[in-house]
Amino acid sequence: MSDQHSGTADGTDTSAATASGTEASDTDTASADAATAGAASQPLLRVEDLQKSYGDETVLRGISFDLDKRDVEVIIGPSGSGKSTMLRCVNRLTEFQGGAIYLDGESVMAMNDNDLRRRVGMVFQDINLFAHLTALQNVTLGLRKVRGMGKEAAREKAMDQLDRVGLASQADSYPAELSGGQKQRVGIARALAMDPELLLFDEPTSALDPELVGEVLEVMRDLAEGGMTMLVVTHEMGFARRAASSLMFLDEGRIVERGPPEQLFDDPEHDRTAEFLQRLTTISEEV
Ligand SMILES: Nc1ncnc2c1ncn2[C@@H]1O[C@H](COP(=O)(O)OP(=O)(O)O)[C@@H](O)[C@H]1O
Ligand SMILES: [Mg+2]
Repeated sequence: MSDQHSGTADGTDTSAATASGTEASDTDTASADAATAGAASQPLLRVEDLQKSYGDETVLRGISFDLDKRDVEVIIGPSGSGKSTMLRCVNRLTEFQGGAIYLDGESVMAMNDNDLRRRVGMVFQDINLFAHLTALQNVTLGLRKVRGMGKEAAREKAMDQLDRVGLASQADSYPAELSGGQKQRVGIARALAMDPELLLFDEPTSALDPELVGEVLEVMRDLAEGGMTMLVVTHEMGFARRAASSLMFLDEGRIVERGPPEQLFDDPEHDRTAEFLQRLTTISEEV
């Protein structure tokens, strides 16, 4: 993989070498190698030099990282650092001006909306269930509309997902009858119902009363342990320590530091990372 990122110098060298003779066969060999390597070790998500502005304001200044299948990436960073914007670029809720995003090798720019929505699920901070539909109907809706499933099959699948988040007994409840934590779990069930390859979470617990945070994090931890690939913006550092394969600190639209959570917690490379994590820990102890 690192070969593809090694810059233009290698490319220039290669073309100089091929110019000396067997150009066609060299090219064939190179592309065959690339195809084989891609099949063996292609990341599920590749974000490459992502750049995004709103008008004059540059929000993302060249973000690059890969996620493999089953990876759980936790993203932290100050308010306004671009965390939500980055997630929104991944499932194309907003457009970007530079760079590229690939899902299993396929550019998200080239995918149709339905395919992308099915393959990349998202759970937001604000729990946006339809108030006039029951928990079950909220989960069934996407299965019917996006996946075109029949009524009974959709119902069965939706029940399975509600069961997965511990809410089978609340299937016929309306959002107003559910707690914030239960609503957020319905939101997760709704995303899971699409059989997504990747799940995005944008501060899924930050709007919840403290006593309801745990039940949502528990569902997320189960998903992580079950092998779901996840990109999670959260400042719940207990979750990061226990469930994240990697932790990313974003500031002013750049990745300041990224690595295994224990490395960032115990031996961060940058002072800014240490300061930010220190402040997070202090705040969570005060709460
Ligand atoms: N729809 C929008 N229009 C204009 N500016 C926006 C929009 N969404 C976000 N921004 C700006 O982009 C920056 C990053 O925002 P955001 O990605 O929401 O940060 P974070 O999630 O890290 O708090 C902020 O300065 C914010 O004001
Ligand atoms: Mg945000």
